[in-house]
Amino acid sequence: MGETGYDLVIRSGTLATAGESFVADLAIAGGRIAAIGENLPPGRDEIDACGLLVLPGGVDAHCHVDEPPYAGARHADDFRSASRAAACGGTTTILPFANQVPDRPLRQSLEDYHRRAEGRSLIDYAFHLIIRQPTASVVGQELPSLIAEGYTSFKVFMTYPGYMLEDEPILELLDLTRREGALLMVHAENGHCVHWMTERLERAGDVGLGAHGRAAPPAVEREATHRAIALAEVAGARVLLVHVSSAQALEQIRWAQDRGLPVLAETCPQYLFLGQADLERPGWEAAKFICSPPPRGPQDADALWRGIAQGAFQLVSSDHCAYRLDGREGKRAHGDELHFRKVANGVPGIETRLPLLFHEGVGKGRLTLQQFVAATSTNPARIYGLYPRKGGLAIGGDADIAIWDPAKRVTIRHAELHDACDYTPYEGRELEGWPVVTLSRGERIWDRGRVSEAYGRGRFLPCDRLGPPSS
Ligand code: URP
Ligand code: ZN
Ligand code: ZN
Ligand code: ZN
Repeated sequence: MGETGYDLVIRSGTLATAGESFVADLAIAGGRIAAIGENLPPGRDEIDACGLLVLPGGVDAHCHVDEPPYAGARHADDFRSASRAAACGGTTTILPFANQVPDRPLRQSLEDYHRRAEGRSLIDYAFHLIIRQPTASVVGQELPSLIAEGYTSFKVFMTYPGYMLEDEPILELLDLTRREGALLMVHAENGHCVHWMTERLERAGDVGLGAHGRAAPPAVEREATHRAIALAEVAGARVLLVHVSSAQALEQIRWAQDRGLPVLAETCPQYLFLGQADLERPGWEAAKFICSPPPRGPQDADALWRGIAQGAFQLVSSDHCAYRLDGREGKRAHGDELHFRKVANGVPGIETRLPLLFHEGVGKGRLTLQQFVAATSTNPARIYGLYPRKGGLAIGGDADIAIWDPAKRVTIRHAELHDACDYTPYEGRELEGWPVVTLSRGERIWDRGRVSEAYGRGRFLPCDRLGPPSS
């Protein structure tokens, strides 16, 4: 390799993967990782990473970006602002959801969603599908051909009016994923229970925002989690439980994994950092924390941290689902009444996911650096068929890299974040460690406070099929 062979050399950083950490230089050519070693020859550009961490860019495998409005509520972010915020928080790949529009061909929903991303995303992206109507033609024809084109994961809901599926359609979809090498992601809350509890709370006049947590207690999640696991076992399929919030649901996941079932699970920062006490805050302040399942509190959070460290959770994703607090399009799409059923569900977190987890996990000794990289980058890339192109520091892989200053002190302020929401649920938290440079295919998209405006450079990534289910 001659003097001009490398486009960029990152020098003397501490490289960390899901397997190991070591000090080395890392060279990039043509957007890919070209070499890792000591004293590499000069590149056309250089970054001195002495004292810094060089990590694979984050892969955020659960985020909601610019989906068509749900009951009048519109996401704050489009692909520009969501991908910009992701990049500034060290994430280089996102997997948002293309949401099936009922009574239309699935492909039409996908094409619409592609149009929303194309020309806007700063980073590379793949899509999951949300399946609301698994008709015979969806399961028998549409999904098999879409899986072959690289849409290999889909989410279903066991709750939410208009989304909730009963057991048989879930079994049909699990069976399809087994046959076709795809993966079913399940939102596990028992919607019948939530509906019944909601009516009971309303009759009792307990409708303030704190009732959001009471309408969906952990038993509601535990039951649905167990049922999803049982359905997957019956179908002989793998299953992934998304945004797990409670110790009780985690117990079910552990129970299944201990029995050798191929059960995968994800949790999110909101369940590690927020809780019922936030839902009890006065007035509209509480709306900032309304998401489903509801955040529980410190005891559940402790159990979830252990679940990440022990490998029961393979993934920590953001479930970024940003609705603005002000105006009529977001949290208040159903009016100003402080009624728990009327506030749009979802919290922003695409930019703060990695720094929160780094500070509280790696910084406080709850997670090793390797566990952090695995849960936020390598595992999601592997599980969704993007590895080794994404999620590692493999020679020949895309040069998607986050360079972290582990000593950088940051107080989270929404005013300094890069999404298009108007608040963060983590306002005022003091963290140590933040990505100072983010590279996507070797290009600096976030560089010490400056964010690229090359919107549209992000590319769509078809996902590989999964191998046969095994735990
Ligand atoms: O409250 C949440 N999590 N909203 C996003 C949709 C979902 O269920 O993931
Ligand atoms: Zn969900
Ligand atoms: Zn019901
Ligand atoms: Zn979600």
